[in-house]
Amino acid sequence: MYQIYPRSFADGNGDGVGDLVGMRERIDHLVDLGVDAVWLSPIFVSPMADFGYDVADYCRVDPLFGGDEAFGTLLTALHERGIRVVLDWVPNHSSDQHPWFVESRSSRSSPKRDWYVWRDPAPDGGPPNNWLAQFLDRPAWTLDEATGQYYLHLFLDRQPDLDWSNPDVEAAMHETLRHWMERGVDGFRADVVHLIGKGRELRDLPEELRGMTVVAIDEPFTHELLRRIRSVLDASPQQAMMVGEVYLLQPGQVVRYLGAGDELQLAFDFRTVHVPWSADALRRVIAANQAEFAEPAWPTFVLSNHDQPRHRTRFGSNARARAAAVMSLTMRATPFLFAGEELGLEDAVIPAARVVDPDGRDGCRAPLPWTDAPDHGWPADAWLPFPPDAGRLAADVQRRDPTSMFSLYRSPLRLRRERAVLRRGSFELLDTGAELIGWRRVHGADATVTVVNLSDEPVDLPAAAAGVLLASSVAGRDRLEQQLAPDEAIVVDVAA
Ligand code: NOJ
Repeated sequence: MYQIYPRSFADGNGDGVGDLVGMRERIDHLVDLGVDAVWLSPIFVSPMADFGYDVADYCRVDPLFGGDEAFGTLLTALHERGIRVVLDWVPNHSSDQHPWFVESRSSRSSPKRDWYVWRDPAPDGGPPNNWLAQFLDRPAWTLDEATGQYYLHLFLDRQPDLDWSNPDVEAAMHETLRHWMERGVDGFRADVVHLIGKGRELRDLPEELRGMTVVAIDEPFTHELLRRIRSVLDASPQQAMMVGEVYLLQPGQVVRYLGAGDELQLAFDFRTVHVPWSADALRRVIAANQAEFAEPAWPTFVLSNHDQPRHRTRFGSNARARAAAVMSLTMRATPFLFAGEELGLEDAVIPAARVVDPDGRDGCRAPLPWTDAPDHGWPADAWLPFPPDAGRLAADVQRRDPTSMFSLYRSPLRLRRERAVLRRGSFELLDTGAELIGWRRVHGADATVTVVNLSDEPVDLPAAAAGVLLASSVAGRDRLEQQLAPDEAIVVDVAA
């Protein structure tokens, strides 16, 4: 699954912001790379206070991205090339400009008042409970002077939380899913979906958890809601898929959102977006992910997204990012790639005057360079600066170079397509010593071993990796050597 941040992918109309026409012009890039599906960060009508995660109309595409028509054309074009399409559904909150909220806010007796979470002030006039919003470190409540009540917003004050304990809200949100499924969309990524079942009680959090409000809410009601959402998805002819952003970080918490196979199909495990380049740390995170998402559950594997520094930046070198590609694409999991990682992009350096995100996440959202011309294929000044080395890393340059990051990504992606063992094979972590991590996957008569050297020194190839080299993160390597180079990852066919 390949995540596209639409503002930053490709600009078709020359306004400096990526759009759906631009995306359509770059479908060859996705086909050459070899991804099965794309997930588009939100493209719906939005005032863009949180760049689309503040939705003002769940059933219309924002004109900035080309509107509904451009989406229809793009969807058809992607399907024709065998690529499925996943939209980003933002169920926990809408924009304050959504007509539902405008009406809700208009008076205490508005028929939509209880579509959102309104409460009287605390006795001292302050917020109704001690929750903090995720951004800007301020209360999760804003007082509406005109009606004298506070509304809840776990993110910006321009992102009021919907009240999912109201059956009318639930029904309206189910309709938004049906709308897109009827248009042929294959699935959804559900934004902070663990928050929707927060219910009506809204008790204070213990003082030490206040600053972590959005990772502290983990309520049984959400599971009830997810089972009903799943029924809506399953009723579609395409059996639409949902992957949940369940931003919970305690062991064992996230997998519960798959229920008994009757809630989410997939859920992100974010431990991997925070893990440093260390054999110990990676081994621990991979072991926990595999153990918690053992059969019949199924894990995801994600190293980068639009909210965190890119792993090329986090891991600190190109060699490590190359090894990470082999690691991610040979894992027992659905790997999620973040557009630009296949080019080895680092986060852009954003001068203070160009910071636009309220939470400082602009660096990883920098535009993709397509060419080595000065404009990198973006006809007007792009909305954010390009990442470092944009000319050298441009997609058109890398496509011609068999040693490039782009060419590397194609190789394990192709292997994964060709070999069921890399998709469905069992998974066993190997004891490969302190500096290596390694695992074996078996499917019928096929078996592969992946080994990653996380040290700065060459390390002897472990006996478990004897076999035929299928891919290496080191450019030009076409057979097994006695030693793994520093930061080298290999995948080996060990069946025989
Ligand atoms: C998680 C999204 O990934 C992030 O970008 C967004 O700001 C918040 N949810 C709020 O919707």
